[in-house]
Amino acid sequence: MNASPVRHFLDLWAVPPTALREMLAEALRRKRARAGWEKARADADAPLAGRMVALIFEKPSTRTRISFEVGVRQLGGQVLGLSAAEMQLGRGETIEDTARVLSGFVDAIMLRALRHETLERLAQAAQVPVINGLTDRSHPCQIMADMLTLEEHFGTTRGLKVAWVGDGNNVAASFLHAASVFEFELTLGSPAGYQSARADLARAEAAGASIRLMSDPFEAVSGADVVVADTFVSMGDTNKEQRLADLAPYQVHAGLMAHAAPHAVFLHCLPAHRDEEVTADVIDGPQSLVFQEAENRLHAQKAILTWCLAQRG
Ligand code: CP
Ligand code: NVA
Repeated sequence: MNASPVRHFLDLWAVPPTALREMLAEALRRKRARAGWEKARADADAPLAGRMVALIFEKPSTRTRISFEVGVRQLGGQVLGLSAAEMQLGRGETIEDTARVLSGFVDAIMLRALRHETLERLAQAAQVPVINGLTDRSHPCQIMADMLTLEEHFGTTRGLKVAWVGDGNNVAASFLHAASVFEFELTLGSPAGYQSARADLARAEAAGASIRLMSDPFEAVSGADVVVADTFVSMGDTNKEQRLADLAPYQVHAGLMAHAAPHAVFLHCLPAHRDEEVTADVIDGPQSLVFQEAENRLHAQKAILTWCLAQRG
């Protein structure tokens, strides 16, 4: 839980579960309320009117940047998209000084960081809410969009069998953090050396989540309602050729999907690499929800922003 009255969104385990479930409901309400509207039209209540949000990127982004920019505007606020390399951060100014300076200019800061520690230091020093826009350790905004997508498709996330196949990376970690909150059963199918961090597994289990670890991808997806893949080479990973070789047996293809439930859906946070972690017939096929999932980044983040900024400083 956050000790300070500032509402940061750093990780799913650090936000009260009731608040996360309410955010999901809020995302769904807002999405439905503006169905068919022009994209630049603000939501009727414009809850971020008069508020300024900074987005800082230490790594590339398409979905996160654009969904935050559009989302803040739809909430009636204003937004600044910043590349860390073009700030004095890129020349060695500390993240703490950056936090203090930005707290005087903006009402919230989203950071996509190379290292999770940078995000934690930013939140420690900032006087305004800080949102995790992906780090090497987690990607909580993505998983809120994934939960929204599953809620829309299945009516609830409760009791779903979700199978993660491939690298036990930052996105997998946020799935682990989400399992107890959204009450789905999670199976992680990863080879030795690519399993999720012990700390994330322990956190999920301590929270009462149902987690299974498998090394056989076919066993992992057996009977699953949802199959999830991500890139085999995340931003910042160096050993590309080794990773592609080690993770090749974990590619999601039609033969693997055939072991999941007949009604199973496929998720991927994107960007995707066709014929590496997933084949084109799966990601571009009828079981894929990936573009609904990508659009839901916008709707989920609007609920996150509204929650973070509900308290006026
Ligand atoms: N899924 C996701 O975070 O995409 P971007 O890297 O394009 O922001
Ligand atoms: N695991 C990927 C996710 C990209 C959105 C990465 O960190 O590069």
